[in-house]
Amino acid sequence: MQEIEKIVFPYEGVYEVIICTKSIITPIGIRFIKGKYFIHVYKNTKIHEVLIKEKEGVIVVTDKALQIYSALFRKFTRDDEIEIKGINCLKGNLAFEFKSSYESEDEQRTHLSVTISNPQVLSYPCMAINRANNLLIEILIHYTRINVFKDEKKQAELISLMKSLSEIAFRTDFKGEISEIIKKVIMMAEEKIKG
Ligand SMILES: Cc1cc2nc3c(=O)[nH]c(=O)nc-3n(C[C@H](O)[C@H](O)[C@H](O)COP(=O)(O)O)c2cc1C
Repeated sequence: MQEIEKIVFPYEGVYEVIICTKSIITPIGIRFIKGKYFIHVYKNTKIHEVLIKEKEGVIVVTDKALQIYSALFRKFTRDDEIEIKGINCLKGNLAFEFKSSYESEDEQRTHLSVTISNPQVLSYPCMAINRANNLLIEILIHYTRINVFKDEKKQAELISLMKSLSEIAFRTDFKGEISEIIKKVIMMAEEKIKG
């Protein structure tokens, strides 16, 4: 079990995973620091409300940005799901059960400490690091931050950041599949700002 954890979370840092509970499936960053795991959840979000109440579920690890996109925009079907411990989860590479508890908070976020257990391999092998794939993740993070930062200047900065990240993705995503999604996400972000 320790061995699998070391393969999945090899360094201290933030890993993007999909958190699944009885009532929500959404991307989240899990922080691995000094042998412990934490999640920082923005207040005033659905996932915050859910985690404060439900406290447990499944963390799905994937190497595919399109699965993170599917989780965020609920673009999945029954065929993409798998039931683990009575919870509907997206099929990624690996799943861990988790339990969370309140640790501390700052102005914007509640910090939860998390314990993970019972790793289950769902599919492998993993994909090699891919530029467009990684850029899509970053773009999706900025997209979700638009809701957090209400100030217009900050929102405009986020859009311009998303656009400059997209340039490398467009050059390196030869089939254009991820590029199309990035264009759509940037368009949605612009529409969100316009109100
Ligand atoms: C890759 C990725 C990582 C994310 N990490 C976090 C996170 O660490 N904490 C958080 O509160 N929201 C994070 N989000 C945003 C949430 O997935 C979600 O958008 C947010 O909870 C607001 O939606 P909701 O109100 O429906 O929950 C992340 C989004 C993406 C795409």
